[in-house]
Amino acid sequence: MKLVIVGAGGRLGTALAREYREKFSVIGFDHTQLDLANANELREKLCTIDFDLLINAAAFTNVDLCEKERDQAFRINADAPRILAEICRDKNAKLIHFSTDYVFDGGKREPYIENDPANPISVYGESKRAGEKFVLRTQDRPASRPEGSRLDQSAGSPSSFDLGPPAVAALDAEGAARLRRVRQHLIVRVSWIFGPDRPSFIDGMIKRARENEQIDAISDKFSTPTYTHDIAQMLPQFFEVDVEGGILHFANAGECSWQEYAQWALDCCATEGIALKAKIVDALKLADMKNWSARRPVYSVLSTAKYSALTDVSPRAWRDAVADYIRHFYSQK
Ligand SMILES: NC(=O)c1ccc[n+]([C@@H]2O[C@H](COP(=O)([O-])OP(=O)(O)OC[C@H]3O[C@@H](n4cnc5c(N)ncnc54)[C@H](OP(=O)(O)O)[C@@H]3O)[C@@H](O)[C@H]2O)c1
Repeated sequence: MKLVIVGAGGRLGTALAREYREKFSVIGFDHTQLDLANANELREKLCTIDFDLLINAAAFTNVDLCEKERDQAFRINADAPRILAEICRDKNAKLIHFSTDYVFDGGKREPYIENDPANPISVYGESKRAGEKFVLRTQDRPASRPEGSRLDQSAGSPSSFDLGPPAVAALDAEGAARLRRVRQHLIVRVSWIFGPDRPSFIDGMIKRARENEQIDAISDKFSTPTYTHDIAQMLPQFFEVDVEGGILHFANAGECSWQEYAQWALDCCATEGIALKAKIVDALKLADMKNWSARRPVYSVLSTAKYSALTDVSPRAWRDAVADYIRHFYSQK
């Protein structure tokens, strides 16, 4: 299988490129090699290469800057995914596009499922939601697809591009051939990503704890830290499988505040014998963050029930994933 990874220089994209290079033929584009804000460049560079799957891990991810640069946010997070989806459709390739828990307003107090209404409260969230809608609309869906074909269902096996006998029987040969060619794009929403390829919240907290005796983090905002390595492990199951509705949530299991997340990181460092000045993370309130221009959802835990139903696998707990990360990438430092 030939893969293109856009955003191959980012936190997630770098991890995906590293994990897939051995098993698949991978072409990665970082920001310097492909500018999502340039529609002509996207078409020129991507239309000329042959691939089966394009993974878009690139985005304008600075949530506060998006408030100031609304047009650019929509160009990169909404228009570019639309163009990528069209390029993939025209090549009969599949697009896997990453999105965010920030498409939700945070008003719920239990994990968000894929069908919950999105209601973004920031420009970043709005632009990412617009990108999702464009991708979902740009599907290579044959008009004659029969109700109940396996492509309509939550595909559970890698053979879901092949129609089983009942569906094929209802079609003429041409129709069946067309159905086999369908590649449904997939949106994967993730939250609070961390990993070794670009510093994130957890690395910032460990750095602060190395340099200061007192550190703090927000205690009234909740989601789930999710390890890039775990995202990379789960994703190939969907390279050749359609997912009903075209959206899938993926996160490590459980939920926490930023304060709990940071405290666990410090506890793991202590277990690994990593010297820190701070041992305790004090509580800050979301309302204290006066320098943030974007609103952020206070609760944006993503339910992975659909993922588990499709795969029979539960993601590992976020605490285990964080402990694993610290053991591998901090212990030797
Ligand atoms: N980080 C999180 O906690 C989080 C949470 C929920 C969802 N997500 C989503 O997960 C995906 C991956 O995020 P991440 O954490 O890996 O973010 P990241 O480290 O900021 O990576 C984003 C990448 O996109 C690139 N990029 C930005 N503008 C571009 C442009 N105009 N053309 C081409 N590339 C461009 C960036 O390059 P430069 O840095 O060189 O500009 C960077 O390499 C994104 O879709 C994001 O919305 C992330």
